[in-house]
Amino acid sequence: MSILIKNGHVATASEDYLADVYIEGEQIVAIGKNLAYAADKVIDASGKIVIPGGIDPHVHLDMPFMGTFSSDDYETGTRAALFGGTTMVIDFILQKQGDSLYNALRTWQQKSAGKAIGDYSYHMAVTDFNERTAAEVVQMIEKEGITSFKTFMAYKGALMIDDGQMVQLMQVVRKNGGMVTVHATNGDMIDTLIAQNRALGNRAPLYHYLSQPEITEAEASARFTDMLYYTGCTGYIVHLTCEGALNAVRQATQRNQKVHVETCIQYLLLDASLYEQDFDGAKWVMSPPLREKKDQEALWAGINQGLVNVVATDHCPFTWEQKQMGKSDFARIPNGHPGIEHRVELLFSEGVKKGRISLPKFVELSSTNAAKLFGMYPRKGTLAVGADADVAILNPETVHVLSAKTHHMRTDYSAYEGRQVNGKVETVVLRGSIAIENGQCLIQPGFGKFIYRQKVS
Ligand code: URP
Ligand code: ZN
Ligand code: ZN
Repeated sequence: MSILIKNGHVATASEDYLADVYIEGEQIVAIGKNLAYAADKVIDASGKIVIPGGIDPHVHLDMPFMGTFSSDDYETGTRAALFGGTTMVIDFILQKQGDSLYNALRTWQQKSAGKAIGDYSYHMAVTDFNERTAAEVVQMIEKEGITSFKTFMAYKGALMIDDGQMVQLMQVVRKNGGMVTVHATNGDMIDTLIAQNRALGNRAPLYHYLSQPEITEAEASARFTDMLYYTGCTGYIVHLTCEGALNAVRQATQRNQKVHVETCIQYLLLDASLYEQDFDGAKWVMSPPLREKKDQEALWAGINQGLVNVVATDHCPFTWEQKQMGKSDFARIPNGHPGIEHRVELLFSEGVKKGRISLPKFVELSSTNAAKLFGMYPRKGTLAVGADADVAILNPETVHVLSAKTHHMRTDYSAYEGRQVNGKVETVVLRGSIAIENGQCLIQPGFGKFIYRQKVS
């Protein structure tokens, strides 16, 4: 199959220009003006923006969490991602405490094989570090193409590791060419604040927010960067939400330390006032919680200062019925919200259209940097000859409104119900096959491939 995308406004992380893109098989074969290939399919992209398929490096599909499972699996989650222009996701494997990384890997392979529609990889969450884990970390990097290791400084008793385990993990990962990523919040402090609020009878979703103040994230982010500095390991902070945590990273860069930062689209657009309502606030119960307007400003500035490198989603959807588990106790509301489908369009609408970021910066944040940081560039994350033909074609003039009635995620509410978006992804190509066209998904479960990743430094 060959595809010729004609007259599009082609955008990469470094430039944007008018050109044609010619695809043969799974790869891009030529980019240039007035390409004269006879293709099986010609797409007129006049007036449209042609970008590399989005990469969302922070999603939770079919994940066991807080007594239930996130409601999108590999089929529904990667399909919804494709509708929004995201052609690849990186999901999190969770090691069970007391069990091996390989057992966890096998569990996640069963969840994804034959089901994924879009491409995917895994981060390995290390929740129990010991000698066996150390040996398996090396095997993950050398044999399995899994080079990033997620750690939790919170969720004690389920996912959290202590600082001693963290430093040992960093030492092994550093030596073997991987990266340590982190959910950086002070778990002990948060657990204490939760207990204090519950003892006072404060049970509404608002107290989820009040139990995780900014300082819990700023402190943990600084502690993590200090441990990285000591070990020399490369690190990446996931879902960074606030000015205090960003300032911890800023300080680390002042000692010439490289720390990579991901924020998520919701932290750029939504704020904590959403918790000031009754149980409806449960829709946005996630960890860390939404923050203040001043934090949004700090994050947008951090993007343009080069401190924030990636915009992800932390897609961890639950149905409204699942959220009811915490109806009478905020601490039992499953943490997470749906977002995988809307990231690319929202970032374009709120970022590029509103003049906050340039078009190349948008591509960098939504695709290229994730590919580079996680060992997939230039196969993924750019439009270049020889790269996988993962392409999204976005109409910058189409205005649409987000709603649970029309989204493709397996949740019966939207975190963005009624929100107007300027710009819509119309056509998506995944490895040379038309994935989305005319509002239909044209590829099937099993099309999505596991992407083996290279070592990172
Ligand atoms: O609330 C969230 N973020 N749920 C998913 C797990 C995590 O901490 O990323
Ligand atoms: Zn987290
Ligand atoms: Zn997460």
